[in-house]
Amino acid sequence: MADKGAPISVTQPSTLETRGPGSVNVALDINGVSRVLNLEPRVSLLDALREQMALTGSKKGCDQGTCGACTVWVDGRRVLSCLTLAISCEGREVTTIEGLAEGDELHPMQRAFLEHDAFQCGYCTPGQIMSAVALLKEGHAGTDGEIAEWMSGNICRCAAYPHIRSAIREMRDRKTGQ
Ligand code: FES
Ligand code: FES
Repeated sequence: MADKGAPISVTQPSTLETRGPGSVNVALDINGVSRVLNLEPRVSLLDALREQMALTGSKKGCDQGTCGACTVWVDGRRVLSCLTLAISCEGREVTTIEGLAEGDELHPMQRAFLEHDAFQCGYCTPGQIMSAVALLKEGHAGTDGEIAEWMSGNICRCAAYPHIRSAIREMRDRKTGQ
């Protein structure tokens, strides 16, 4: 039998503070507002947003990372909030669909979705829009095929995909002055 070597140590570094399993205070920055929530470390960012902060724009379509309805940004990157622990967002900037408009002024992508009729029931829409804005920043909107690929983590059962793509196309072309 091959020598499997010494067992790997699973001791936590002493600098890591153990928190939980009961409720702990977690400081979060959501849409530019700092909040301290008291929650168990097992609570997902999605549940913290929806149930503790009444930010119900982010939706739960599956809670297992397959539908994209829960897409938000953490430090400007799109993430699935159902697979993100709220406690792991301490010290980071979280942005949700509620943080996209400037007061009463819609974000241009929100307006483009309205103008292109890019939703029906609206349940996937917050996630689609958070993904779409990030997609442009990532530079992944070169062609329709590329848009489809890089938006494929956001499912729409109303099948608004062609209209979602045309909203994204318009924003891309406006950005590049075409
Ligand atoms: S609820 Fe997060 S991916 Fe479906
Ligand atoms: S608009 Fe209904 S699921 Fe996308």
